[in-house]
Amino acid sequence: MIKGPLFTGRTCQEYIQMFNLNLKRLRGKSILDCAAGASSFTPIMHSLGFDVKATDTFYDKSPRILYQMCAEHLKTLKKALKEKGSYIWKFYKNPEEMFRERLKACKIFISDYRIGKGERYIMADIRKLPFPDDSFHLVLCSHLLYIYDHRLDWKFHLDSINEMLRVSKNEVRIYPLVKEDGRNSIYLKRTLKNLQGKVDAKLEKVDYIFRPSADKMLRLIKSLSAL
Ligand SMILES: C[S@@+](CC[C@H](N)C(=O)[O-])C[C@H]1O[C@@H](n2cnc3c(N)ncnc32)[C@H](O)[C@@H]1O
Repeated sequence: MIKGPLFTGRTCQEYIQMFNLNLKRLRGKSILDCAAGASSFTPIMHSLGFDVKATDTFYDKSPRILYQMCAEHLKTLKKALKEKGSYIWKFYKNPEEMFRERLKACKIFISDYRIGKGERYIMADIRKLPFPDDSFHLVLCSHLLYIYDHRLDWKFHLDSINEMLRVSKNEVRIYPLVKEDGRNSIYLKRTLKNLQGKVDAKLEKVDYIFRPSADKMLRLIKSLSAL
């Protein structure tokens, strides 16, 4: 059993759907992916000419160690998904397909990490990001907040959200908002209450679902933007 968040990564296409990203509108904008893991979002977006950076607490490790960790965590995940029946097989047909596609994503990430470590891939805790205020037009966080609310407490959530808001110029997007079983995290309401009057917080439906009821992202809009 692996303790704590898994070191795996979703594909760039999953990110586009989870966060309702419009690539035409994102042209020329800067993007930060927090707790990015082994996702292929940053390498693919970079190869398409986007200004994108990724942070994760594991980005001080070598490419070899990260690949081993990701492959092992993906195997554990595939096994767990086969045993649990509550997932929605829409984006992926079955656990095998998910395993293959996410391992491909991991390989794409590792090739780019080899050349972009320290520049595009920066080791950082989401609660203390090494960037000045208002550095990025869009800041993303996938599968760290809310879903692990049995391990990460309210202070962790609040500090992470405030820090992402600090470094974002326009907007922060967070997905998912639910736990494994599809219930909203206990911290979602608290977040909305806490941010009242500070930013414009919106729950927006997305064209992606894997866990039951996980069809919404949280948009925290700091200033009017056309993202
Ligand atoms: C389940 S993975 C999600 C990866 C990617 N965002 C995705 O959705 O595919 C969670 C990631 O959060 C990272 N992580 C855990 N605690 C963190 C922290 N305090 N600050 C930054 N990253 C953290 C882990 O190393 C892991 O890569």
